[in-house]
Amino acid sequence: PVNVYPTQKEAVKHVAHRIAGLIRSKQEVGGQTVLGLATGVTPIGVYQELVRLHKEEGLSFKNVITFNLDEYYPMQPDAAQSYVTFMNENLFNHIDIDQSKVHIPNGTLDKDAVAAFCMDYERKIEDLGGLDLQILGIGRTGHIGFNEPGSAPNSGTRLVTLDDLTRSDASRDFGGKENVPTKAITMGIGTIFKAREIILMAWSQRKASIIKKAVEGEISSDVPATYLQLSDNVEFVLDAGAASDLT
Ligand code: F6R
Repeated sequence: PVNVYPTQKEAVKHVAHRIAGLIRSKQEVGGQTVLGLATGVTPIGVYQELVRLHKEEGLSFKNVITFNLDEYYPMQPDAAQSYVTFMNENLFNHIDIDQSKVHIPNGTLDKDAVAAFCMDYERKIEDLGGLDLQILGIGRTGHIGFNEPGSAPNSGTRLVTLDDLTRSDASRDFGGKENVPTKAITMGIGTIFKAREIILMAWSQRKASIIKKAVEGEISSDVPATYLQLSDNVEFVLDAGAASDLT
């Protein structure tokens, strides 16, 4: 389904409360929640609300295991632009998650070690029973994770080449496009698809045209997010701006 909220603030509350509800319901029966997480501007408000729920309403992340979608390659974890730094600053440093339960693709590996790392990432998710919930943003190329145009619907975690537009969009964070890595390690479309629930979020007019393609366009690897139309477990959560081109 597609759910449009008047403002990003309301949409963010809805997503954060769904995550919190899932964590609490699993906790009640002594279970763990396996979350797939995203970086970028889009989920920041959700993370802020989760931090607030932790600090003010006792939401605990002790029984939460996380897998991030992606990381630039190569990338040192302590670099300002790494997704490790992003997740620490926006979420992990402010909640009670056990660091050993946090998984983010490793941007420091030698090239010949990447494939084995990716297989292991997939296996870890499977051994835990799969992702309960994956949250996603969407890039202007239509990428989810860093599955750029051309990605196969059954793709797994792997090393990919970033699209030129994606590197332009990241150039501010890196002080120039020439400093943006050309590659990344990302969960695949197939990995994302196996999650029991998927929430794709998009805010503002800036995402309106790619959201129109993703939600209403022909299903094609030219716009990888269109594959989500094939899943019954996807919720598109939009604000009015991002939904403004939908018919
Ligand atoms: C981030 C990721 C990307 C972003 C997308 C949108 O982990 O996988 O697909 O979700 O590039 O980025 P923002 O939210 O910065 O517009």
